[in-house]
Amino acid sequence: DNPSLAPAPPMGFNNWARFECDLNETLFTETAQAMRKRGLLDVGYDRLTLDDCWMLHDRADDGSLEWDTNKFPQGIPWLADYMKNEGFHLGIYQDSGNLTCGGYTGSYGHEAQDAELFASWGIDYLKLDGCNVWAEEGRSLREEYHVRYMQWHDVLNALPVPLIFSNSAPAYFEGEAADWAVVMDWVPESSELARHSADVIVYSSNGSAWDSIMYNYDMHARLARYQQPGYYNDPDFLIPDHPSLSQNEKKSQFALWASIGAPLILSAYVPGLSDEEIAFLSNKALIAVNQDPLGQQSALVSRDGTFDVLSRSLENGDRLLTVLNRGADAATTTVSLARLGLSSQSSCKYDARDLLTDEVSTIDSAIEIQLDSHVAKVYRIALPESCTKTTPTGMVFNTPS
Ligand code: GLA
Ligand code: GLA
Repeated sequence: DNPSLAPAPPMGFNNWARFECDLNETLFTETAQAMRKRGLLDVGYDRLTLDDCWMLHDRADDGSLEWDTNKFPQGIPWLADYMKNEGFHLGIYQDSGNLTCGGYTGSYGHEAQDAELFASWGIDYLKLDGCNVWAEEGRSLREEYHVRYMQWHDVLNALPVPLIFSNSAPAYFEGEAADWAVVMDWVPESSELARHSADVIVYSSNGSAWDSIMYNYDMHARLARYQQPGYYNDPDFLIPDHPSLSQNEKKSQFALWASIGAPLILSAYVPGLSDEEIAFLSNKALIAVNQDPLGQQSALVSRDGTFDVLSRSLENGDRLLTVLNRGADAATTTVSLARLGLSSQSSCKYDARDLLTDEVSTIDSAIEIQLDSHVAKVYRIALPESCTKTTPTGMVFNTPS
């Protein structure tokens, strides 16, 4: 939870959901070029992370990890340098167990050595997975994860320049509510972001990507209280080119992830994204709320019929409203100011700016919203400047606590 390392949710690219083990130097340089040319770097997507399968199955004689030279002919330090010159940061994947999830060599027993090696390569972000972890004698599995991830936290922080730490431990306890809550007690202090829930569906799978997105979104809702500047809950990747998603669903995943305050990590073939996809992924108003310095996660305030309503405070005192229609049909709902914790004003009406269309409407005591199936809308709600001044202090606006 280091706000100087991660003042806002990380944004960027990871190969996993789109390409799985099929990663290489060209994919990463082409992706970086496309992110620059298509404006994604300009709006904040500045990290590219190598996921599993970048390394060899065995360590070198001195115990060092080695990259696969077939995939990375010029080497990972070269790639990190390339990214720096292009305005990006390079991140990497490892695992706290004996083997990675893909069966490559894990970091167990080599924590400091691997951390120092990554730093020497010019890497500044580590995604640390938790496959193939077994408890040492006398410890529960839950305690084992605690020991290992805190050890990694210490090792990363002892580096001259600490690495951003993406922690996967909570994902290994998602099905066990009691263990999971105890794990969440130490996760925010140990890392800058943490995976929970399941892997978002991979591109090669025929399953429903929308169901996968909704599964992770549901698991995310219970985590709002843990998020703070410097620590972000991670519901996994944005998958804007998954073949089973409709255009509305792609847009809605982005609107949801951005508005709830999640990391925005694309797992997509960026050179192949359509102009429309690039446009909604570059929505500056949504990215601004995602990166808001207050660092809050939206909390679920109601679930009526097919509608979810979420809300959070923003640093300037505005209130964010997110509404999602999960149903199979278009439908209409009404959200009152009271439900958002705002009081009606006799002389002034609130403005609600729709962050997808930029249209502003006026709210008296409630807002009526019509949504197609699987569509999310996000409103930024504020009193007009002229009203705020005349309002009695302490009364009106959510002063963020
Ligand atoms: C786990 C993680 C994924 C990916 C794979 C790699 O399943 O949750 O995000 O890193 O391992 O093997
Ligand atoms: C087993 C082994 C230990 C250690 C752990 C790592 O428990 O007995 O030596 O390698 O796995 O997960």
